[in-house]
Amino acid sequence: MNASNQNTKGRPLCFGNWKCNGSIAALRQWAADFDPGGAQAAVCVPYPYLSLAVQLLDKKAAVGCQDISLHAGGAHTGEVSAAMAADCGAQFTLVGHSECRQAGQDDKAVAGRIAQAVGEALIPVLCVGETLEQREAGKLEEVLADQLGAAAAELRQSRSPIVAYEPVWAIGTGRAASADDAQKAVGLVKGILKRTFVDYIPVLYGGSVKAANAAEYMAVDEIDGLLVGGASLKADEFSAICAAS
Ligand code: 13P
Repeated sequence: MNASNQNTKGRPLCFGNWKCNGSIAALRQWAADFDPGGAQAAVCVPYPYLSLAVQLLDKKAAVGCQDISLHAGGAHTGEVSAAMAADCGAQFTLVGHSECRQAGQDDKAVAGRIAQAVGEALIPVLCVGETLEQREAGKLEEVLADQLGAAAAELRQSRSPIVAYEPVWAIGTGRAASADDAQKAVGLVKGILKRTFVDYIPVLYGGSVKAANAAEYMAVDEIDGLLVGGASLKADEFSAICAAS
C-alpha cells in the first residue's frame, strides 16, 4: 500500500473487512481468485491469518488487522499488540470500528489504539459513524465531530491516516446509505478534518457496499474509497467492487 496521503481519487482505495469470518482454505482460494484491477486493495483478516495473507496476497492487496491492543505488551491475556501485527506484515489496522465501540471501546481507548498503531508505523483507519437514533435526533455532525475530535491529536502523529465513515445502521443490514446521504456525511467528515488537519486525509464509505452499488459511491467526489464487510468475503464480488471503483 502506498502510504502517501495524496488525493487517491485517481486510484480508489478498496478495503475489505472479513470480521470474524474465514479459514485457511478460504483464504487460499480467495487469494488465488481475487483481482484488484486498478484499485489499491487492502484486506483486514482475523489475526491468525495475517502472515499467510501477506504471503499469499503479495502485490494483490495490502493486509491489515481489525483492531489492536491498547497496550504495547505484557499481562493482557487474549490481546494482540500493534508490534505483533506489524511483525506479521500488517500495514494498517482498523481502529474504532462500531462493532468494537459497541463492545465497550470508548473514544479514549480508540485514541490510545491509534497511538499504538502510529508507534509501530501501522496506518490507522479510524472508523466513525452514527447510530440510527443519533441520526434521527439530528446529531450526525455532533457525533462525527466528537469521534474525530477525540482522535485528532493521535491521528495527527500518523504519516498517512485514513478515516472511514460507516453509519452504524448501514453495517451488515443491507440498508446501505444513499449516495446522497454518504456524500453529505463524508462532506461533514472532510470539513471537520480540514479544520483540524493541514494534510489531505482520504475518507472511505462503508456499510452494505456490494458490486451493485459500489460505482454510485465512487462517483461521489468526496468519497476516496470503500470499506466492505460481508461482500469482501467473496473474491469475485470484491474483485467486481474494485473494478466498479
Ligand atoms: P458490511 O459491508 O457487511 O455492511 O460491513 C461494513 C463494515 O462494517 C466494514 O467495516
